[in-house]
Amino acid sequence: MVSNERYSAPGDRILLTGASGQLGGELVAALAPLGEVIAPVRAQMDLSDAAGDFRLLRETIRAMQPRWIVNPAAYTAVDRAESEPELAYAVNRDAVRAIGEEAQRIGAVVLHFSTDYVFDGQGTTAYAETEATGPVSVYGASKLAGETALANTGAGHMIFRTSWVYGSRGKNFLLTILKLAREKEVLRIVGDQHGAPTWSRDLAGMTAAVMARCEVEAVDSSLADVIERVGGVYHASGGGETTWFGFAAEAVRLMKLVQPEVNWANIESIATSEYPTPAKRPGNSRLNCEKLKEQFGWSMMDWHESLRKVLSEL
Ligand SMILES: NC(=O)c1ccc[n+]([C@@H]2O[C@H](COP(=O)([O-])OP(=O)(O)OC[C@H]3O[C@@H](n4cnc5c(N)ncnc54)[C@H](OP(=O)(O)O)[C@@H]3O)[C@@H](O)[C@H]2O)c1
Repeated sequence: MVSNERYSAPGDRILLTGASGQLGGELVAALAPLGEVIAPVRAQMDLSDAAGDFRLLRETIRAMQPRWIVNPAAYTAVDRAESEPELAYAVNRDAVRAIGEEAQRIGAVVLHFSTDYVFDGQGTTAYAETEATGPVSVYGASKLAGETALANTGAGHMIFRTSWVYGSRGKNFLLTILKLAREKEVLRIVGDQHGAPTWSRDLAGMTAAVMARCEVEAVDSSLADVIERVGGVYHASGGGETTWFGFAAEAVRLMKLVQPEVNWANIESIATSEYPTPAKRPGNSRLNCEKLKEQFGWSMMDWHESLRKVLSEL
């Protein structure tokens, strides 16, 4: 259990799931100035316990009485989800419903994270929050089901849909590519899936900023009133756009500049059809983040800039 112990007033408590993950790890630090962050590890609060009706999860929330529940935990193994749909739905839908039910009971606000994979990826423009969903994978469908389940509990909530999350820690595309690019002569990367890499730290910073803004506005009313007004779905992915190929090529180009002595692989673009995977992926993962900017004045960092920052930490 991670707890920064900086504030002890019950009203300040923030329950954070998934602190061992990419985004969760960044949220531990980003949320610390906002209150006492309590982050149970998986053994203390398993989110796959659908059969047990999430007893531990429910008991933890009831005992903690958090003001906010921030939920970046998820079943994120996109390909494995195709053969483990029960587990994906347990974590991505049923646990989210249980969190929402308990939040509703105690009046806590839930901040939840979802994905570009709720869309079918047709078209060439960036998806707005109002556009029709149509997931093409079990993972995407389970995340969409989680969004709906949370909304149906009636708990005050915000859902941040993001894409292509990466950073200097955890399991992610960038770190995998940089490892392989040192080992191989040629890397063939999909160049016809379009989207935006999102830095986990930028996403965590945005989350904290949004929470802080809501708390400031709640001084004149109540947090529930503020969330009633500003809650719902927001798109929050990195600025700009590229393909997996474009992302990998730029990362390796920059690494060549700082480590010219390494024999870096050549990066080649291939079509999705040349790289078959168990789960289908949307060709268009672009998310329109205007609503986030209009409501909270927050623009996510352009992926070129965040890539440089992340590389400087490696
Ligand atoms: N990664 C992406 O490219 C991407 C893209 C779009 C949206 N998202 C969404 O963004 C959010 C954060 O993603 P991320 O990349 O930070 O994920 P991540 O690095 O895979 O971390 C997932 C976290 O969930 C926890 N978790 C998984 N199953 C659990 C269970 N049964 N009980 C308790 N905890 C469990 C993991 O704990 P353990 O360490 O114990 O496994 C880990 O802390 C997720 O909602 C994801 O769907 C991610």
